[in-house]
Amino acid sequence: MGIEGFDDAGVYQLTEELGIVQTVDFFTPVVNDPYWFGQIAAANAMSDIYAMGGVPKTAMNIVCFSPKKFDLAILKEILRGGTEKIKEAGAVLIGGHSVDDEEIKYGLAVTGIIHPRRIIRNEGAEPGDILVLTKPLGTGILNTGIKADLLKENDILNVSRIMATLNNKASELMLSLETHGATDVTGFGLIGHLKEMIKEEIGVELYLKEIPLIDGAIELAKSGFLPGGLYRNRDYFKTYVINLFEGPIYDILFDPQTSGGLLFAVPEGSSFMLKENAHKLGIEVWIIGRFTKENKGKIVLI
Ligand code: CO
Ligand code: CO
Repeated sequence: MGIEGFDDAGVYQLTEELGIVQTVDFFTPVVNDPYWFGQIAAANAMSDIYAMGGVPKTAMNIVCFSPKKFDLAILKEILRGGTEKIKEAGAVLIGGHSVDDEEIKYGLAVTGIIHPRRIIRNEGAEPGDILVLTKPLGTGILNTGIKADLLKENDILNVSRIMATLNNKASELMLSLETHGATDVTGFGLIGHLKEMIKEEIGVELYLKEIPLIDGAIELAKSGFLPGGLYRNRDYFKTYVINLFEGPIYDILFDPQTSGGLLFAVPEGSSFMLKENAHKLGIEVWIIGRFTKENKGKIVLI
């Protein structure tokens, strides 16, 4: 499975029972603290493996850093954060590569394992399925706020924690249910990634009031602190959305997420098990919509 279906990661089948699943992701700092940045970048890089239903096994560092421009202690902290997350995921760091670059960038190339018949693709949701999200939205807006120095210390800590949270348990949760399709919410925002789940095959109703938001996101959005990527996402995906109006809540639907949660489709009859299993795993989940036969290729806000 390669790049043609816009799935989260590529899969190569080795045997009847075993496939490898691979992905790579790296970016510039989203928060000021290098230790948190390392954790977030690593959690983000491994997320695509979890979104497919795989388990990360090995990781390699990708580092862009200039020792002439920055103190090496910063790089050490980034790598410490990344290494801790790799360990938490049960994977091992087996190498990496660095280049001299004035702009700091960090991330991972990750290889995981997956059962070839238990690959969860982004398409596959069926009419009547419920739509589940496992992390609140707003990281793009809040990271823009951090860069503008507008956030209080505890709001920074809160959003950093959310971004650094692995999607391992969310993946376990979806594998414990009859999941029909899944992806993770990243750069294209909720609407962009949801569109990949429905393609032109089915429609989806999104319950605006049920969409979880990170503390402070709506206030920042109200004051107009929106990342550039949000405008680009809104421009590009707005034609697929019915009942779209101006206002902060509508903007957040397009907010590009860093290390966002999993977004997946399960039969409506699974909602009790979903809550029960999420509780056992100690994670939060939100049912934010429902897939429909009607409005093929469209996201209807209700
Ligand atoms: Co993804
Ligand atoms: Co990616």
